[in-house]
Amino acid sequence: MEDQAVELSLRPRFLNEYIGQNQIKENLKIYIEAAKMRSEALDHVLLYGPPGLGKTTLANIIANELGVNLRTTSGPAIERPGDLAALLTNLQEGDVLFIDEIHRLHRTVEEVMYPAMEDFALDIMIGKGPSARSVRLDLPPFTLIGATTRAGLLSAPLRDRFGVISRLEFYTTDELAYIVSRGADILGIGIVGNAAEEIALRSRGTPRIANRLLKRVRDFAQVQGDGMITQTVAEEALKRLQIDPRGMDEIDHKMLKAMILNFRGGPVGLDTIAATIGEESQTIEDVYEPYLLQIGMLQRTPRGRIATPAAYAHLGLPIPEGN
Ligand code: ADE
Repeated sequence: MEDQAVELSLRPRFLNEYIGQNQIKENLKIYIEAAKMRSEALDHVLLYGPPGLGKTTLANIIANELGVNLRTTSGPAIERPGDLAALLTNLQEGDVLFIDEIHRLHRTVEEVMYPAMEDFALDIMIGKGPSARSVRLDLPPFTLIGATTRAGLLSAPLRDRFGVISRLEFYTTDELAYIVSRGADILGIGIVGNAAEEIALRSRGTPRIANRLLKRVRDFAQVQGDGMITQTVAEEALKRLQIDPRGMDEIDHKMLKAMILNFRGGPVGLDTIAATIGEESQTIEDVYEPYLLQIGMLQRTPRGRIATPAAYAHLGLPIPEGN
């Protein structure tokens, strides 16, 4: 199978195959069952949290569990109200429309979205100038699933129109080890001892990373070993990938080192850090920071970011006097 096809098949298709996010999962089961009992569309769902935790996977699962079609798009891809109208008028009753990066919806599109979500109706302007009038078009009842890394960037009127708002959390090591073992099964590769746990520990609480590391470790196991993923093979491969025992990579290291060596550990502004290490502020904020905050290497304060004593210890750097 091609890498991309395997990538898709590693994703669970139904809730009972989905590991972790237990509270979200249990609640969704109820909401889905209730919607099915009433033969109604499921209420609109907003999923938010750091990248790679399974927002897209959950959207697919929700559509599968409901037994409806899923249409997938993203905020910036819907350029004009007409694009949204085309998407919405092509839905069948009960279908799911999944909009990734929903915080990047254009304002003009967002305004069309409100009546669509609330009343399943589209208000279309016909004509221009004094003779212009608005015509209301009925839509089939549908479920909007929005995904974002930043719920805070959503406008209040949009956020308020979601009936279910769920925040995805980082996964535990046990959950990730389970996901890695499941992935190895699907890929048809043996994994023994604590190898699954070793990969899990370095996956930043993120299934997407766990599955990526699994595939790279498999490469080493097949080329340099006998195809079996042992703990030794896993450790060796992860070292080659420059992933440290806490799952931190070169960019995490660069970032913390820059803060410590150039700015006395902070507080230092996000944009300053970004400029110093040559990364986008947005990438640091969405991709790197959440995990560093979670494992206590970084703190956010109103005056900027601070490297914690744990960060000094992890990098083997002395804490300067007077800090
Ligand atoms: N693969 C990626 N995410 C997963 C999850 N949450 N459960 C099971 N397999 C997964």
